[in-house]
Amino acid sequence: MSDLGPSIRPRRLRTTPAMRRLVSETDLRPRHLVLPVFVREGLDAAQPIASMPGVDQHSLDSLRALSVRAAEAGLGGLMLFGVPRARDAVGSGATDPDGILNVATRAIAAEVGDALVVQTDLCLDEFTDHGHCGVLDAQGRVDNDATLERYADMAVAQAEAGSQLLGLSGMMDGQTAVARAALDAAGFPDVALLAYSAKYASAFYGPFRDAVESALVGDRRTYQLDPGNGREGVREAMLDLDEGADVVMVKPALGYLDVLRQVADISPVPVWAYMVSGEYAMIAAAAKNGWIDGDRAQLEALTSIRRAGADAVLSYAALDLVEKGLVT
Ligand code: PBG
Repeated sequence: MSDLGPSIRPRRLRTTPAMRRLVSETDLRPRHLVLPVFVREGLDAAQPIASMPGVDQHSLDSLRALSVRAAEAGLGGLMLFGVPRARDAVGSGATDPDGILNVATRAIAAEVGDALVVQTDLCLDEFTDHGHCGVLDAQGRVDNDATLERYADMAVAQAEAGSQLLGLSGMMDGQTAVARAALDAAGFPDVALLAYSAKYASAFYGPFRDAVESALVGDRRTYQLDPGNGREGVREAMLDLDEGADVVMVKPALGYLDVLRQVADISPVPVWAYMVSGEYAMIAAAAKNGWIDGDRAQLEALTSIRRAGADAVLSYAALDLVEKGLVT
C-alpha cells in the first residue's frame, strides 16, 4: 500500500451495473428451477397452505393451469406431490393408477410434458396412515426390503402415468438400484432417476407435513441422515451413483451447502438441491411481517445454492420469481 492508498482495489469491478454483470460468476435462470406442487384428491379449487404463504394445495384443474404458467415461464420442471383422500398401512394409493398422484401426472404430462420435465415424488409417506416413508414390520419399524418392493411397483406406476424423472425421497438402502431394475424390466429404460441422496432428518420439513396432511408420529431418524454427518451424505451420493442415479440431490439446502459442495466436486452427473418448505416459509413469514425483503432473500438463497454447486434447485418461490421478472 502506497501513501496514496491501495493499488489493488477489488471495488473497481463493482463500479457500474454493466461491470458487475460482466464479472458475475453465478447465474440463475428459469431453467435452473423446479417447482414442487401439491395436488389434493377431491378438491375443486386451489386452497392456501397456512404455513407456506403463497403456496396452495391444488385441484386437478388448478394444477393444470399452474403447470401451463410454469411452462410459459420456462421453468426446468415440476415436482408433483399427491395428497390422497384415504391412506392405509402399505400406501396403496401410491401404486393405484387411479391414485391422485398418478392421475395428476397423466394430466400434467399431457398438458406440458414437452415443455418442461414432469417429475414425481417416489415415496410412501403421503400414502401411509402411519406417515412413514415405508411399510412397517411386526415391531413397527420401517422395513427396508419390504419397502423396496413397494417402491419398485410405484416406479412402474409413475412411469406408466408419464412421469419423466422419479424423485426417490424415501432414504431406503438400495432404492435407486431397485427402481432402475423395475423400470428397465417394465420397458421404461428412458425414465430417469433423481436420487435424494443426502436427505437429512430435518426440522425444516415442518410446513411440508402440513401441505400433505402427514399423519407422522415420531420421526424419520432411522432412515434420514443425522444433520451432523457430512461424510455420510457424500457416501450416500456415491452409492446412488453406483446404483445408476441420473441426478443426485442434497436436501435441505441452506444448512447443507458444505455437503452440496462436496457432492458437486465428486459427481459425474448433475447435482441438485431442494430448498425445502421450512426454508421457504421462514423467508415468507419474515417478509409478511415486513422484517425482510422476501424476493431478494429468496433470490439470494437460490443464488447461494447455485454457487455452492447445485445445477438446479427445487424451490417453492420458482414461479413467483420468474413471473415477477426477477429471474430471466
Ligand atoms: C418425502 C418428502 C418430504 C419432503 C419431500 N419429499 C418429507 C419428509 O421427508 O418428511 C419435504 C420437502 C419440503 O419440506 O419442502 N415424501
